[in-house]
Amino acid sequence: QPKKSRYTIGFSQCLMSDNWRKDMVQGMKRELSFYPDIAMEMKVANGDTKKQNQQIKEFIRQKVDLLIVSANEKEAHTSLIEEAYSSGIPVIILDRRISSTQYTAFVGAENYLVGQNAGIYANTLLKGKGTVLEISAAPTTSPSIDRHRGFIQALKTYAGIHYSGILWQTDTFDSTVTNYLKANPQIDLIYSHYDRLALRISKISADLGIRKRIKIIGVDGLPGQNEGLELVKKGLIDATILYPTGGEEAIQTAVKILHKQPFSKENALFTTVVNPDNVNIMLAQYQKMGEQQRAIERQTTKLLDLNQIYSSQRQALTIVVAL
Ligand code: FRU
Repeated sequence: QPKKSRYTIGFSQCLMSDNWRKDMVQGMKRELSFYPDIAMEMKVANGDTKKQNQQIKEFIRQKVDLLIVSANEKEAHTSLIEEAYSSGIPVIILDRRISSTQYTAFVGAENYLVGQNAGIYANTLLKGKGTVLEISAAPTTSPSIDRHRGFIQALKTYAGIHYSGILWQTDTFDSTVTNYLKANPQIDLIYSHYDRLALRISKISADLGIRKRIKIIGVDGLPGQNEGLELVKKGLIDATILYPTGGEEAIQTAVKILHKQPFSKENALFTTVVNPDNVNIMLAQYQKMGEQQRAIERQTTKLLDLNQIYSSQRQALTIVVAL
């Protein structure tokens, strides 16, 4: 296909209710600002799988030039996305996987590794002996499935670590966890698939007076108030497994695909354990990035101002020449 001069990306986003998703979209917009030839339209499904499929269908009908999907559930969007892909629309799967490899590119950290890292670090924190509880959100999303699989796989190698079970986030989450911890005083560590839930667990265990005894591992590691890095720094949780949002990288990949440049199909983002030993380095890096971002924004405004001056001077010159 020949190169076009303008492109539209359709972004089907499963949720937008938390800072992790907001960070993802900010990263996308930041990256898009370098490409005036590319516009992005986002449709948010608010965690509703049917709605997300309708929105994906609308994007297909609109004939977007490229589709980015962060899928609410692993299975339920698979055939529709395969359809879009085989009809010739390039598809980037972002963060949440589907049950197929029929897509143009994947961008995201490997959740199996996230779970494995959590399992290995749980063993380290417990010095090889103890009982762990796992907490997750929805059993049908790919991060939940893979974060669980990786964790269980890692724990299998430690004879002294006992797995107590998994609790799901429900409307009665706080009381469910409270009752579980009261009934199971042998729990030594809680692995929560999300820092948001890890913070609630931290509060619950403080209320029960067992926070000092229990270890907590979260996932996401965002900077910002009440987010993972701050929780680790303040000792509200013991560690978080970094799970980058991949917004910038998704757009970088989209740009390569649209501009017909070479790209990789699988783009695994970096994940690691963040604990009190390395949290300051992480925070310092984010601060530096923020400063650089602000400098770029200042330069962009300056350039726009200069452009304005240049074009009004040109206009004045044209008038003079015409006279
Ligand atoms: C945000 C979120 C993150 C998590 C990711 C998984 O909506 O729940 O906390 O790491 O989605 O897809």
